[in-house]
Amino acid sequence: MKIVSVIGSNRGEKSTSQSLVNYLAQQLSSGEMSVPSYYARRMYHRPREQDVFFQELAACELLILSAPVYVDLLSAPLIQLLEMARDKIGRNGLEGTKMLAIIHSGYPEPQQRRPCLEMCRCFAREMGIEWCGGLSFGGTSPINGRTLESAGGLTKGIRSSLDRVAEKIWEGSLSGVEDLTLEDRSTIPMPPWLVKLLMNALTRKNAKKSGIEDLATRPYGIKVK
Ligand SMILES: Cc1cc2nc3c(=O)[nH]c(=O)nc-3n(C[C@H](O)[C@H](O)[C@H](O)COP(=O)(O)O)c2cc1C
Repeated sequence: MKIVSVIGSNRGEKSTSQSLVNYLAQQLSSGEMSVPSYYARRMYHRPREQDVFFQELAACELLILSAPVYVDLLSAPLIQLLEMARDKIGRNGLEGTKMLAIIHSGYPEPQQRRPCLEMCRCFAREMGIEWCGGLSFGGTSPINGRTLESAGGLTKGIRSSLDRVAEKIWEGSLSGVEDLTLEDRSTIPMPPWLVKLLMNALTRKNAKKSGIEDLATRPYGIKVK
């Protein structure tokens, strides 16, 4: 199976988005499938490289898009790349291709990743791609571009999700789904409401330390004297 991955992180090869694809690729390479990566930010700065990517995209059977959430959205270079793919290849120009999205974020709640997953599914629909669902991972900031194995127990749940998907890809049983999300996992071993409580307390503490008294003041709580 010809697979191509696109990395949506502005950190490129050093990103957690890449670590997630590397882990998946390792599971597949033991079954002799390779997963070349293309970087949205790199192509944004070097437009000539986009054409190579579009050719690879048009020829691949499975597109794996791995990207973080940046302020509730996909990164600007990735959005631009997807729009250019639509304009260059044309609507419904990727019929016969499958797509898996791996969307991850710092906060643990699934709703953080939902808009990005919707954007990916929308791209698939416009291009005639078979949407095979999204993997949704929360609390990924501490991975910080390390291998998932070296992040230890923190990534255990993520690795088992990726193992299951790798097996499906390998067997050829990854197929179209109606669901937006295949699996949602968080690295943070506590309920989202508790994380929210702790993070709000931390934000208030940091704000106080920086001399910001009223967090509700706009913009960004800075008081002009
Ligand atoms: C500019 C910026 C904006 C971010 N916005 C969000 C956000 O809205 N929600 C969230 O849960 N995480 C957010 N994060 C956290 C990242 O999604 C998280 O750190 C992720 O692991 C980064 O992955 P990467 O190494 O592939 O770039 C943001 C990070 C940055 C740098």
